[in-house]
Amino acid sequence: MKRRVRTAILISGHGSNMAALIEAARSPDFPAEIALVVSNKSEAGGLAIAKRAGVATAAIDPKIYAGRDEFEASIQVMLDIHRIELICLAGYMRILGAPFVNHWRGRMINIHPSLLPAYKGLHTHERALADGISEHGCTVHFVEPELDAGPVIAQARVPVLAGDDADALAARVLVEEHRLYPQALAKVAEGLAGQ
Ligand code: GRF
Repeated sequence: MKRRVRTAILISGHGSNMAALIEAARSPDFPAEIALVVSNKSEAGGLAIAKRAGVATAAIDPKIYAGRDEFEASIQVMLDIHRIELICLAGYMRILGAPFVNHWRGRMINIHPSLLPAYKGLHTHERALADGISEHGCTVHFVEPELDAGPVIAQARVPVLAGDDADALAARVLVEEHRLYPQALAKVAEGLAGQ
């Protein structure tokens, strides 16, 4: 059987994208194995989902560390213990420092709810609706120190429909996120497995 790339998912909340990645990786043919889920919030709903799926979890509270470097060093220890080779950010709501991002360059990916480079940052659906655009979507990209700016791996598009509010639009985009992220992870993991 082909080598599967040991992958960690970083979350802060519901973890619906995380759940989609775990589900896809249940197939033995999937080129990534989800070996660890890390949350910066102990109450993140995604932690329970990961535990139920038999995935190792860690909740690491940034408040108990002197600063960002110490907090991220603690995440790195967990990643090392689990021999992680690739990171997926999935609704991880803390900015990562440049040393951590540079260490993982080319091996850390993120999903963002807009068609990047449009609508970097927060409240993407509200801003898209305010602009009256007709097409919106989501992007999986490599993570670079500049927020939401790394090379694009894959995108999915959805129409903006008359009468949409931010929740309706977010729900339509989220369906595509759950389809797109496993595909993008598979593509990146296949590339790494071949190295
Ligand atoms: C998703 O819309 C993702 O694109 C964004 O945050 C949301 C996380 O949702 N970065 P979930 O935690 O995966 O359910």
